[in-house]
Parts: sequence; C-alpha cells; structure tokens
Amino acid sequence: MTELVRIIYISRATFDSLPAADGVEPTVSRILSTSRRNNRRNGLVGMLYYGDGCFFQCLEGERSKVEGLYRTLLKDKRHTDLKILASEPIKRLSFPDWNMKYVPLDQSMSRLMSEHGFDLFDPYRFDHHLVERVMQLMQGVPDPTEPAPEAKPSSPSRSIQLDSPTLDTQAPDAEGAAIIPIVAIVLSSIALLVSLGALGLQLGWF
Ligand SMILES: Cc1cc2nc3c(=O)[nH]c(=O)nc-3n(C[C@H](O)[C@H](O)[C@H](O)COP(=O)(O)O)c2cc1C
Repeated sequence: MTELVRIIYISRATFDSLPAADGVEPTVSRILSTSRRNNRRNGLVGMLYYGDGCFFQCLEGERSKVEGLYRTLLKDKRHTDLKILASEPIKRLSFPDWNMKYVPLDQSMSRLMSEHGFDLFDPYRFDHHLVERVMQLMQGVPDPTEPAPEAKPSSPSRSIQLDSPTLDTQAPDAEGAAIIPIVAIVLSSIALLVSLGALGLQLGWF
C-alpha cells in the first residue's frame, strides 16, 4: 500500500531578486513552471511561498516521490540552508488541486509576521504554532499565477451553477402539465351530469 506524507521545509534563495514579471520574480516563475510539470507527473501537490529572500514549501504525495524530490532539492543551487520543519504521514492530500500553489508576500502575511514580532519573513525563527498559522494563511490566499481551482472550467461547482437555471425554468412547466388532466376530468364530469339531466327530463324522471 502506498504511504502518503507531508513535508514542510524552508530555504534561503541564493539569487538576487529581480523585479517581478506578471507578479512573480523571474527565477521563482521558472521554478514554478518546472514544479507544476514534474509534480503533476509524480502525483505530488504543494504550496510554495517566497518572500524576503526565503522559501517556505509544503510538499505532499507518495513517500518515495516526496523523498526523491527532497534529494533533488538539496542539490539545487538556487537555494541553500534547507531545513525540514515538519515531516509526517497523512491520510489524504490536503490540496489535491494544487500541483504547486504559489503564495507571494502580501499584506496578510506581513500582518501575521508583525503580530509575532517579525519585521521580515524569517522562517528560521518560527515556532510550531507560527508554522501552522503560515500554512493556514497559505491555503486561504489566492494564487495570482493560476486561476483558483473553483474557477477552472472542469470544476463541478461551475457546472452546477450553469445547470440550475435550466431546472428552474422547467419547474413551472411541470406544474402546468399536472393541471391539464384535472381540468379535463372536471369538465367531463359536468358534461356527463348535464347529459344525464337532459335524459332524465326526456324520460320523465323529474
Ligand atoms: C525552492 C524550490 C522549490 C522547488 N520545488 C520543486 C517542486 O515542487 N517540484 C519539482 O519537480 N522541482 C522543484 N524545484 C526544482 C528542483 O530543484 C529541480 O530543479 C527540478 O526538479 C529538476 O527538474 P527537471 O529535471 O525536469 O529540470 C524547486 C526548486 C527550488 C529552488
């Protein structure tokens, strides 16, 4: 049976940040493209945060795939000082729609940092509680480089929205169809009574 695991690790970027193109630093953008392509192939999911020269990444998937990727990451010259903050078995993937969700430094993260007395995003000084808070925040923040899973065309929630107006317009028709036989029965009963009355008069019943 395959065992699923999650790891959270941090590292320091070794490159100088260049101005963002389309909202993402160019080297980070290349890392994201490779990650999404490879992770999809390997059944891995994850989230990557980049801010103040540091990475914070969560990876989930089959143990052998996650450990294999971590060995590759250790050799990648674009970052250094890799440190694992959490490593644990999991029952199911937490964000199956994200082969690699990207989370940039934004106001909510800056606010979280200052709440904990940090001027910058410095994950090397995070305690367990702050790691959890950062994870929660990353899950809630939209990815500026990709449409949210809910907005993807194949998403079932979208087709439900598209389907419901059709159902609404069908409902009154169904009600109308049910009334027609009732009216027909009432009219036939009246016609029968009238005919019986006329026959009775002719035969002298009344
Ligand atoms: C911070 C950081 C995060 C990365 N995350 C991933 C990842 O999730 N998946 C992945 O395949 N490569 C990731 N990479 C890139 C790998 O280190 C490596 O360059 C890549 O897997 C090689 O893929 P390729 O042989 O297809 O070029 C990351 C690199 C860095 C610096």
